[in-house]
Amino acid sequence: MSSAQSDPGVRVVASGPNPAGYRGFSLGEFRFWRDDYFVYVDWPTGSHVASADAFLKALQRDVAWEFFYGIVNFDGVIGTVNHYGTVDLFAGRYNDAWRKAELDHVQNFPTPLIRATFAQMLDDWTNAGFDPFASPDETGSAFGPKHGANTAAVTRRRVTAARMVGLGGDEPLRSDATGHRVNRQFADVAQDEPLVQPQPGFGDRVHAFNLFAYLSRSDVTWNPSVVSVCKDSLYCPTTEEYILPIIHGNDRVEWFVQLSDTIYWEVEDRDSGAVRSRVTMHPGDVAAMPADIRHQGYAPKRAMLLVWENADSALPGLISSGQLPTNPIDF
Ligand code: PHB
Ligand code: FE
Repeated sequence: MSSAQSDPGVRVVASGPNPAGYRGFSLGEFRFWRDDYFVYVDWPTGSHVASADAFLKALQRDVAWEFFYGIVNFDGVIGTVNHYGTVDLFAGRYNDAWRKAELDHVQNFPTPLIRATFAQMLDDWTNAGFDPFASPDETGSAFGPKHGANTAAVTRRRVTAARMVGLGGDEPLRSDATGHRVNRQFADVAQDEPLVQPQPGFGDRVHAFNLFAYLSRSDVTWNPSVVSVCKDSLYCPTTEEYILPIIHGNDRVEWFVQLSDTIYWEVEDRDSGAVRSRVTMHPGDVAAMPADIRHQGYAPKRAMLLVWENADSALPGLISSGQLPTNPIDF
């Protein structure tokens, strides 16, 4: 992870600790601070209050995913837009009421500056015992005056395979020995691995692994990791429990394949937030999420989801200029 130290041109603007023990941060015209329960944000035309746990869970993902694809809404007001090199920080920009009142605000930053500011905020504001990536039932409280830190959790390395998990030199498989125990809700998932018998000379090119076993050992929720890559086609499976801590605004189509259990998706217009649909996904269901929506998932029980991303960097421009449709298929 980048920090002020590893980005020599970057200067994070932070205050000393407030009475609750937390530092305040400034990024352009935005200011951020927190107390025992809440995070406060203000900008020249407005202000916002968010619950500290929800804010930290969203911030954790924005930092770990390098601002992800398109828009990461922390909630209905605050969020970021990834321009892949620079990032917009916005307030009220994708909220009809704020827009109509002309109180929304956007400021663009070089990615290293907003990344370093968010990373320091996340580290300073995450107390000992709270892991923003864990399910609510598997972590402690985010609240109270500042006590300790959880730097190991908030700087966790994201799994991004170059070819496929388990290949020589690539991301390793998970096991008890690597510290990845089978999750309490996946105790029934078989742990056997496929028998792979490549011809001599093909050992580095023929490969398979048990994806269900791999996912059963994930210690995080709502955190797609890249397990296989074929040119721009990325398989990004993830295990989900409780609520996706961001509302993701797409800049391209995403495909979802439900691998186990159930997820409910609230799907809204990306720009206004108007409700578009509710999608219930059961095992085996496949959905294509259009490029002009935003969505948030709800998983009542830990669920396995395959998110299939197309990393072609030309896609956002082709879609926003109308050269490609916002949906991948017409029936
Ligand atoms: C998404 O926005 O598509 C998304 C993000 C995180 C997940 C799953 C889906 O864990
Ligand atoms: Fe998405």
